[in-house]
Amino acid sequence: MRQNIVAGNWKMNNTLEEGVTLANEVNEILKANKPNCKVVLGTPFIHLAEVAKNVDCELVGVAAQNCADKVSGAYTGETSAAMVKSTGAQYVILGHSERRAYYGETNAILKEKTDLVLANELTPIFCIGEVLEEREAGKHFDVVKEQIEEALFHLSAEDFGKVVLAYEPVWAIGTGKTASPEQAQEIHAFIRQTLANKYGAEVANETSILYGGSCKPSNAKELFANPDVDGGLIGGASLKAEDFHGIIAAF
Ligand code: PGA
Repeated sequence: MRQNIVAGNWKMNNTLEEGVTLANEVNEILKANKPNCKVVLGTPFIHLAEVAKNVDCELVGVAAQNCADKVSGAYTGETSAAMVKSTGAQYVILGHSERRAYYGETNAILKEKTDLVLANELTPIFCIGEVLEEREAGKHFDVVKEQIEEALFHLSAEDFGKVVLAYEPVWAIGTGKTASPEQAQEIHAFIRQTLANKYGAEVANETSILYGGSCKPSNAKELFANPDVDGGLIGGASLKAEDFHGIIAAF
């Protein structure tokens, strides 16, 4: 069966020292309380190697929050998928709405990034989701379908089987406004059906689809109880080990 996953997305928070401390706290908590799901920490690039070295890789996976859409060369300030791989990280968050909105990441760019992440044997945690106006206009199904089709549907079934999806309604990110469990289940089921139409039921059923957007210890259980919600991508609540563990403990 597909894997349940709780992944933290620290975004641009924590100095190196603070990040290593937080990762060690999470690691210690999980050593004492074996999680019933896969746990991943999405750190800034500069933390990756140190965090990967410090945590027990059986308990905690490590993710970059982005990578370059080029292999290597004269791209000042960029970090390649191969460089991420060399740190010991296993995942890359791709297509987060903040990357799409503030850094102009299009589905075409994300297609390139996905290919490079997979070529380096990393797991993409690929984010999709609509903005408020699209939800209010009833276009959210079309929006997520297009994001998936344009960035991911060139993949073979075998490669698609290596992708983790994260549905994150942009209106719920960092706003304290969570999608209701019914809203989450409705669109997660739609996403899974979209995958089934392209790759067949088996691939669709094996794909983990995470929910993200103001997920916290108080609402994680009811969100994760949905049959098509396989965990969460957690921003704000991943910055405190206790809160993050409260979400992990929902499984
Ligand atoms: P949030 O962020 O949990 O702070 O809403 C989620 C995300 O952006 O991944």
